[in-house]
Amino acid sequence: MLVAPSILSADFGNLARDVKAICDGGCDLVHVDVMDGHFVPNLTIGPVVVEAVAQAATKPLDVHLMVENNSFFVDLFAPIKPKIISFHIESENHAHRLVHKIKDLGIKPSVVLNPHTPIESIEYLLEDLHMVLLMSVNPGFGGQKFIPSVIEKASRLKELINKRNPNCLIEVDGGVNDKNVTLLKDAGVDIVVAGSYVFKHPEGVKTAIESLKV
Ligand code: DX5
Ligand code: ZN
Repeated sequence: MLVAPSILSADFGNLARDVKAICDGGCDLVHVDVMDGHFVPNLTIGPVVVEAVAQAATKPLDVHLMVENNSFFVDLFAPIKPKIISFHIESENHAHRLVHKIKDLGIKPSVVLNPHTPIESIEYLLEDLHMVLLMSVNPGFGGQKFIPSVIEKASRLKELINKRNPNCLIEVDGGVNDKNVTLLKDAGVDIVVAGSYVFKHPEGVKTAIESLKV
């Protein structure tokens, strides 16, 4: 399992220190949650802070947009050169066009599905995607409870991926911990995002990250 700690649960007064700690602790990607206060009822960080995160990070950035105006935000973050940009299918009328725009910028495209959004909604995008991100909480906040139906959803998505684009990865985001990570692994998930579990682990971020590498 690859591990992408979400910096949403980091100490923002010591952001560079915390980003270095997860990178030194063996994470695979640094997950950055961008919220616009419209698509989700929370507001997080823009390109100035994400640039500082990129400076501190020794692992690639995994940017998760939770915004209404996806194309505008892609343009805003592209110069920082994240490895992956994920956008929500629920907020995009022209997903196919946006996937190709992200690709043309040299960034790997990914689409996010909220807990209620069916996987069939992206069936015809799969061949162009690097990754599908399944939300296992309602987006907007860290520290929420894992929604177990994502496990069956991941298994079904894996079948669809095997048929349409076996290289496409599955990432799961929200409420992930050492208890549910094995179930996710068995369902075919490649990458887990974990915020509060990693940053609030009593034995530190390195131990937390290691415990998710099943
Ligand atoms: C929620 C974010 C998540 C969040 C995960 O909208 O997309 O990345 O930070 O936090 P935990 O792991 O605490 O659920
Ligand atoms: Zn996220």
